[in-house]
Amino acid sequence: MKEELLIEKLNNYGKSDMYPFHMPGHKRNTGDLGNPFAIDITEIEGFDNLHHPKEIILECEKRAARLFGSDKSFFLVNGSTCGILTAISAATKPGDKIIVGRNAHQSVFHAAVLRRLDVRYVYPEILEEGIQGEISVKNIKRCLEENPDAKAVVITSPTYEGIISNIEEIAKEAHKRNMPLIVDEAHGAHFCISEEFLPSAVEMGADIVVNSLHKTLPCFTQTAILHLKSEYVSEKGIRRFLDIYQTSSPSYIFMANMDKCISDLLENGKEQAESYMAMMREFRERVKNLRNVKVITKDNMDISKIVMSVKDTVITGPELNRMLHDNYHLEMEMVTPEYVLAMTSICDTPEGLDRLEKALLEIDNRLNRQNDKVEVTDHGYISQATASREKRAELHEAFEMEKRSVKIENAAGLISGDFVYLYPPDIPILVPGEVISKDFIRLVKDMERDGLYLKGLDYEQGLIEIALF
Ligand SMILES: Cc1ncc(COP(=O)(O)O)c(C=O)c1O
Repeated sequence: MKEELLIEKLNNYGKSDMYPFHMPGHKRNTGDLGNPFAIDITEIEGFDNLHHPKEIILECEKRAARLFGSDKSFFLVNGSTCGILTAISAATKPGDKIIVGRNAHQSVFHAAVLRRLDVRYVYPEILEEGIQGEISVKNIKRCLEENPDAKAVVITSPTYEGIISNIEEIAKEAHKRNMPLIVDEAHGAHFCISEEFLPSAVEMGADIVVNSLHKTLPCFTQTAILHLKSEYVSEKGIRRFLDIYQTSSPSYIFMANMDKCISDLLENGKEQAESYMAMMREFRERVKNLRNVKVITKDNMDISKIVMSVKDTVITGPELNRMLHDNYHLEMEMVTPEYVLAMTSICDTPEGLDRLEKALLEIDNRLNRQNDKVEVTDHGYISQATASREKRAELHEAFEMEKRSVKIENAAGLISGDFVYLYPPDIPILVPGEVISKDFIRLVKDMERDGLYLKGLDYEQGLIEIALF
């Protein structure tokens, strides 16, 4: 039998009727790039250099700074990941202390490993709907008071689910102590387009902000941007680390795509945002009376994220996802034990949202009948998974330490040697140096019984990696 090539698989998938409720934000239906090979060049004469921009790429970055309202914006071709590594590295010296919102992407923890940082955590609230909420100003303030020697504050806003924190107040608290605030706004690149969206972190006074353009704007996967507007971190510092973390062969296809997207948004972003917002408000209105599946809405939540909670129903997140996928051909962004997340952008179509509405109405109707017969149990997996953990050793020490795999049930009280994740967005719920508690082991076992698995554990052998201190 002939082996299928990746390109054939992608082309066949592109022809199918699967609708993308996931990133990238272009939703496979936008742009007129022509032949990508025709514009795929290297740093030839007249086309500048991303690492030392002086001509056309500098112009592109200035255009971006105008759209995002920063002093200086830097194109990234290795995703927000390289922007976050850069931001944290530029704001600290090896061995420094930083304050981090614990619901951070893995790149924040990786930066802490690389710079051998002493990390102090602030935990997000857990909302009654079972999703992670904001990082409160009160908790940041307390952590700053306990750690006046910290060198930077790093938080994620919006979260994967679209919840923003009070950046304005958090920035003021950090600045009172002469510290920069770094915001991982990977999911909020669209905020700058229009006042219809939530306020952007640059606008609210953050020092360094990182956006994944590919997540919520019509841009290729891997495209992202870092913004600087700070008294505490210099452009030189940022460039030094971008040279380390970014490829020396940046794609002109990516950069051209970012620039075109930014220029289009400067020209007609407000109108696009208006019609998109009208479509999303209408969608929310039509699904607000579902009895079982709850589409979560909050004042401090980005409207583009459709979080469908099945917390008080007889089905799990993976089961809802399977129905949406198999029966309605709707591809979701993320699945957790208790909810399913659909991502939308200005490139979504009314037809796509109609299909999701119809699917939700039918599934909800079916659940009406089942819920009457079966007792519903709330597992509280999300709150258990994001409970605070005892730190016994520094992240970087445990990361570098000799490791051994032990049976999960025998690991209580031992120190984790690796990261364990609840689901992809790569937010670790256990990091190297933290104690593996009895509660954590119980959570692993309960979830496994329900067919839910954590990334970073060896389920075949039933093993977890520990650091040998
Ligand atoms: C909150 C958050 N920050 C950072 C990243 C990394 O972004 P990128 O994939 O652009 O490197 C992600 C990726 O999912 C994310 O969810």
